[in-house]
Amino acid sequence: MLNIVLFGAPGSGKGTQSAKLIDNYGLYHISTGELLRDHIARGTELGRTADKYISQGQLIPDDLMIRILDDVLDREAAGKEGVVFDGFPRTIPQAEALTGLLRKRGSDLHAVIGLEVPEDELVQRMLARGRETGRADDNAETIKNRLDVYHKQTMPLRDYYTKAGKYHGVNGSGIVDEIFRDIADRLEKHVGVRPKK
Ligand code: AP5
Ligand code: MG
Repeated sequence: MLNIVLFGAPGSGKGTQSAKLIDNYGLYHISTGELLRDHIARGTELGRTADKYISQGQLIPDDLMIRILDDVLDREAAGKEGVVFDGFPRTIPQAEALTGLLRKRGSDLHAVIGLEVPEDELVQRMLARGRETGRADDNAETIKNRLDVYHKQTMPLRDYYTKAGKYHGVNGSGIVDEIFRDIADRLEKHVGVRPKK
């Protein structure tokens, strides 16, 4: 299996670049944010719980998030060539859990690609998307909370994975295809994999 974490602040392009990774490398996409929004849309019990956190820009508790991921790996990712993790892990306990979840499936995490984008650009992207699509957490107040949470709880993972030799930062501003080419170059150089097409 080839397992890649796409790491970055809210609005940094994790979803956009995930789509290209899936397409070009034949990987399975797990976006914890999309998964939770799907539950909210369907009105499930998990969705009702998740909504309380997402609407405030706060993280879902680690133990709940880790159980959900374990379940998705069993149900959806088994037998796949690998996984792009988009939006997970977001805390050190989640990162530690991911190592264990992959190890118990005989696999490992190969690379963490960090999309690095200036904060004012992140805010502009999310405000624009909020106007265009009505995504509920793309409003000025929640965006501020999401960015605060990112700095306090998620940013430490950059050091964590740098120390593990797995973090590779790319400039996430500019043309989507050029950013993707940078990601592909890093994966070839550090993991030894090439796109299938
Ligand atoms: P999640 O859905 O993961 O949201 P996020 O991290 O805030 O990131 P976004 O989805 O907003 O942005 P993105 O990085 O995917 O960028 P995108 O490609 O869309 O999480 C939502 C919430 O769920 C969290 O706040 C939390 O409450 C909960 N949650 C999720 N995972 C969790 C976990 N592991 N633990 C606990 N709680 C969790 O791009 C953004 C916009 O920019 C788009 O409009 C796009 O078209 C545009 N764009 C992309 N690339 C470019 C470019 N190069 N140039 C110009 N525009 C671009
Ligand atoms: Mg996303």
